Order: sequence, then structure tokens, then C-alpha cells
Amino acid sequence: MPSDNIRVLIVDDVAETRENVRKLLQFEADVEVVGAARSGKEGIQLSQELTPDVVLMDINMPDIDGISATEIIRQKLPHVQVVILSVQGDQNYMRRAMLAGARDFLTKPPTGDDLISAIRRAGEMSRAERAKSGPVYGSTATGLPSGSVALPQLSEGKIVLVYSPKGGAGCTTIAVNLAMALHNEDTRVVLVDANLQFGDVAVFINEQGKNTILEIAPRVDELEPDVVEDILIKHEASGLRVLAAPQRPELAEKVSAEQFVKVLKYLQRMFAYVVIDTAQILNDITLSAIDISDVIVLITTQEIPAIKNSRLFLDLLHTMGIDKQRIVFIVNRFDKRIAITPERVGENLKQEVAAVIPMDEKVVIPSVNRGVPFMLDNKSQPVARGVFSLAESVRARLIAIEADSEMAGKR
Ligand SMILES: Nc1ncnc2c1ncn2[C@@H]1O[C@H](COP(=O)(O)OP(=O)(O)OP(=O)(O)O)[C@@H](O)[C@H]1O
Ligand SMILES: [Mg+2]
Repeated sequence: MPSDNIRVLIVDDVAETRENVRKLLQFEADVEVVGAARSGKEGIQLSQELTPDVVLMDINMPDIDGISATEIIRQKLPHVQVVILSVQGDQNYMRRAMLAGARDFLTKPPTGDDLISAIRRAGEMSRAERAKSGPVYGSTATGLPSGSVALPQLSEGKIVLVYSPKGGAGCTTIAVNLAMALHNEDTRVVLVDANLQFGDVAVFINEQGKNTILEIAPRVDELEPDVVEDILIKHEASGLRVLAAPQRPELAEKVSAEQFVKVLKYLQRMFAYVVIDTAQILNDITLSAIDISDVIVLITTQEIPAIKNSRLFLDLLHTMGIDKQRIVFIVNRFDKRIAITPERVGENLKQEVAAVIPMDEKVVIPSVNRGVPFMLDNKSQPVARGVFSLAESVRARLIAIEADSEMAGKR
């Protein structure tokens, strides 16, 4: 049974500050300090473990600064409210903190009264957010009577499409593992297989032979969220949901691009992220999905044909009017012995490389053959760390895009 107290996490690299804040709060009956972190990184980790209502966040810290940590925490755990505590009272910091999703900004050292009222305001916000997001994030499969899953009034989820213009470059591998990296109980992810002829996402997670998009696409105009929940494959080990491709290639044509887009938009209302794996061929399905994606993860390898195709694809995106900011360009199967470095690839194509995922056949091939994504059981391997850093780049990009569009809206 969760307590009614406002659960607070303190994030500050200075032990004395952590102690002072703790002391200021110790006599408040409705406030409970549940933990203290010494760096931005630890703050992110403890936020996930403890799911506090309010995080009191310092700005200048050794590994990840408080503003970036705020962005990441707010992306992962939207109900957590962040109050920034900083010696810098300057406008620029305040603006950046707010753009990162901070709820409040106090200069150090705060008075007890200021601190407590900021915590109470943030605590109330957190409760309201939790109540709002309850039906979407989490509880649909855990005991709500069927039919009670209403479409929530949340802002839409984000569509992240993964594409490689060269077959076999690792598109499906990256899509599956990126979806796992983005998914958690509070931030639900659905992975959609847009390779309608030869889709293999279900094989990658060892869940073949179940429902497919054919159960959804033809009745896309009359869907109910709980029906969709039933049709999606639930990957037991992770909780990730998957919309699989048809069982046989000749069934692909039963899904039109229009239906496919409607399905994506529907899922966008149910999930925090819709991750899409695509086929190399640029058909109507893939192009219309690219069009409505928030972010496109473009994969190359260090081989000339792959780089050449990436250049052609980047040209096409430009023609389609897709902003460079929406493209997260990555190198997969990276091998440091190959002279073509990711930096050179990025310079050459005038599109910076956002993440590099190393070649690791010992980890990747068995994971594909066993149907167990390496993000589940090999998290500490360099290849998994590469995918985590890709997930961070995707989140950071989405935040930047949102901040820019908010700024544009205010102008
Ligand atoms: N970083 C990596 N290190 C080693 N092997 C990898 C890596 N990424 C992918 N692979 C391997 O490359 C092969 C192709 O991967 P995958 O099926 O993900 O590519 P794809 O681009 O989706 O291919 P397709 O064009 O068939 O859809 C797989 O056998 C996979 O194990
Ligand atoms: Mg594939």
C-alpha cells in the first residue's frame, strides 16, 4: 500500500548539502526522504528504483549534470517532478531547467518554508500525473476488468522508426534491442514489424506463430484499446508488446499504407514509444511510416555500399522535407580495425553519428538464434552499452525537438 507521504529523492554531489536538506525536511509529517544520490547518474538510477514523487536536483555535478538528468528522469518517469536547487540564480539556467521539464527552481540555500512549499506543489503535480497516466502505463494487463481501459488523455507517444538502406546491416537487431532499452513499467513500448513480407521481429523474441497485424489493420477504424492489448504479443520476460508481421509474404498486400498509418497512430495513443522495424525496400508502407515518425534511426556500417545507400537515403529524406534533427544516424557492426571511422562517415555525409554499436558476433548471433535479445541477458556487454547510448540519443533528440517546437510556438 503506497503511503500518502510525498516521497523525496535528494540529488547533490555535496554531502553537506544533502544533510542540510534532509534536516530541513525531517520534521515535516507529510514529507519522506526516500533516498539521496551523489551524482546525476546515480540520481537517474535511484529515481527508477525508488520512483519518488519529487526529486530535489542540484545542477553542477560530476558525471551527468542536473539539467540532463532532469530530462532523462522526466522522459523515463513522467510523473516524477523535479525541483532544481542551484546557486546559479541566472535566467539562462532557469530557462534550461524548465525546458528540461523541471517543475520549480530554487536558489541555494533555500529557506525551509520555500523548500517545503515547492515540494508540496510538486507532490500534488506528481499525484495528478500518476492518476492521469495510470490506465496507460502499466495496469492494463494487471487486473482491470475487460472493457475498462479507456483511451487516456495523455499527450501522444513518440514514433521511432529504425531503417537501414542496406540489407543485413542489423536493422531488426537494433530495433528489437532499442525497444527493450526504452521500455519499462512506466514507459511502455510497442515494437511494430513494418517488414510485412519477411518480418522477423517475432522470431527475434521467440514469439512466432501468434497474432499479427492482420488481426488489427482491417478493423482499424473500430478498435478498442483492450482489444488491441489482447492482439499484441506480450513478451513475458520484458513486458514489451509486439505487433508482428503477417505469417506469409503473400499476405503482406492485405495491409494498405493508409491502414498501417492508422494503426501506428492508434498505438501512439496507447504507448509512450512506438518503435518500428522496417524492410530495406522503400514501399508505401515504409515511406508513410517515415513521414509520421518523430525520429528516424538510420543505420550504416563501415562499408562503402552501405555508406553510399545512406547518402541516397539522406537525400531522399531531404527531398521529403524531413529535418536533420529528426535523423539519428548510427554505425552498427563497428570494427576499430577498419579505416573508415564513424567520424569520417559523419563528416562525409554531413550528418553526425549519434551512436556507435560495436561488432560482436559472439553476443549478437546467439542472441538472435535463441530469440533472447541481448539487452535482456547481456546488458553489460559493449554492444548493449551501445544500444543504451542510442536510446539516450533518441530521448535527447525527442526532448530537443519538443523544446524547439515549444519555443517556436511561443514566438
Ligand atoms: N553489432 C553486431 N555485431 C555482430 N553481428 C550483428 C550485429 N548487428 C547485427 N548482427 C548480425 O547481422 C545479421 C543481420 O542482422 P539483422 O537481421 O538485424 O539485419 P537487418 O538489417 O534487419 O536484415 P534484413 O535486411 O534481413 O531485414 C544477424 O545475423 C545479426 O546477428
Ligand atoms: Mg530485418
